[in-house]
Amino acid sequence: MVKKNTCVFISGKGSNLKNLIKRSRDYNFPINVKFVISDNINAYGLKYAKQNSIPFLIINTKKRNYENKIINKLNKYHISLVCLAGYMKIISKKFLIKFRKKIINIHPSLLPKFKGLNTYSRVLKFKEKKTGCTVHYVNEKLDSGNVIIKKTFFINLHDDEISLKKRTQSLEYFAFPEAIIKIYSNN
Ligand code: GAR
Repeated sequence: MVKKNTCVFISGKGSNLKNLIKRSRDYNFPINVKFVISDNINAYGLKYAKQNSIPFLIINTKKRNYENKIINKLNKYHISLVCLAGYMKIISKKFLIKFRKKIINIHPSLLPKFKGLNTYSRVLKFKEKKTGCTVHYVNEKLDSGNVIIKKTFFINLHDDEISLKKRTQSLEYFAFPEAIIKIYSNN
């Protein structure tokens, strides 16, 4: 099997990046993480790129034409899948037009519920019975592209933001790889 070259975008902790790198070592997993992009010079997750000798780029999204810099790298590394893993910037229309391959995102709620930020506090405020995570294709609208996979759990009386985050993220480590397998299971 020829693995798809993948770029992971991060902004912070990078635990999903770490997990995807680990899964990529499986012979049968359809992707290899070949490049990492961070919009945050202090992102903890950059450590996983360094530890695994994966080249990375730190971008300043305030600079004009920063998308061109990204596109050049994606072309250089023959990237055919972009995974947004805790990347907290909106993907610009310009980037979507220029990169015509697959872009997927993981979001810590059951989309279309609770798009955007501060997901856990809103889930609790609205007294949801269940929550979870969603992996979806990225389009020009925030957290609105076609869903690839969702994973759900029931909320306990004792859950708070910290426990919801922990429980959601432990599902994410299954959801993201499964979504990638699903994407490439038909082609
Ligand atoms: C993940 O829980 C992901 O769902 C969330 O950021 C976290 C990143 O964790 N993404 C969003 O909220 C995007 N709207 P990580 O850096 O440890 O992978």
